[in-house]
Amino acid sequence: MILVKEYSIRSAKGGYDDNFSYLVTCSESGQQCIIDPALPYDNFKSFINGALSAIIITHTHGDHIAHLKDYIRTNPKAVILSHPMSKSIIQSKNNQAVYHLEEFKMGQLMFQFIHTPGHYTDSICATMKNILFTGDTLFVGRTGRVLSPGSNINDLYDSVYNQLLKMNPDTIIYPGHDYGNQPSISLKENISISPLLQAESEQDFIHRMDQYEKNRSNGW
Ligand SMILES: [Fe+2]
Repeated sequence: MILVKEYSIRSAKGGYDDNFSYLVTCSESGQQCIIDPALPYDNFKSFINGALSAIIITHTHGDHIAHLKDYIRTNPKAVILSHPMSKSIIQSKNNQAVYHLEEFKMGQLMFQFIHTPGHYTDSICATMKNILFTGDTLFVGRTGRVLSPGSNINDLYDSVYNQLLKMNPDTIIYPGHDYGNQPSISLKENISISPLLQAESEQDFIHRMDQYEKNRSNGW
């Protein structure tokens, strides 16, 4: 639980594979949103003041939207914010497509969305103050992987290196899974601990990812 003057962030871990869901609350207005309904609504129910204003979907892989129906049922007025390409999967009248660099105001908090394809076509990250919710695009210690249909390593390189790593180095990332040795980390610390974030070129990144996958499959 992070509590600063303007907002709080409460996380819960579980779901398919150490997924994280985040509940963000605007201190002044009391408005709240959830980032990725990956865990049952009961995890957050007692912390929700009334109803959610928004449900943000970082991408439509099944584990990240596993409990979306429940959140919609319990928060029928919440807007569902996702990339336009998610439309066919998120079939709700409350679905609201968010384009690259589009903003969403929730009380006194301003979110901005960044389209970050690579791990998946409809991946988005959301920034708010010095916080970056990264979904499966960037984890503590490494990038997302490019294993599913809709993955593209060139796009991932562009999203990570030309967008996320160009942000303020003190930005704190909140990823979609607990895959690192701590739940969140600043961009600059993350670069310092991760060879996948130290590539000198796109080719170098592709090579490093290749080595990473080989080492994983060899059980190293
Ligand atoms: Fe994913």
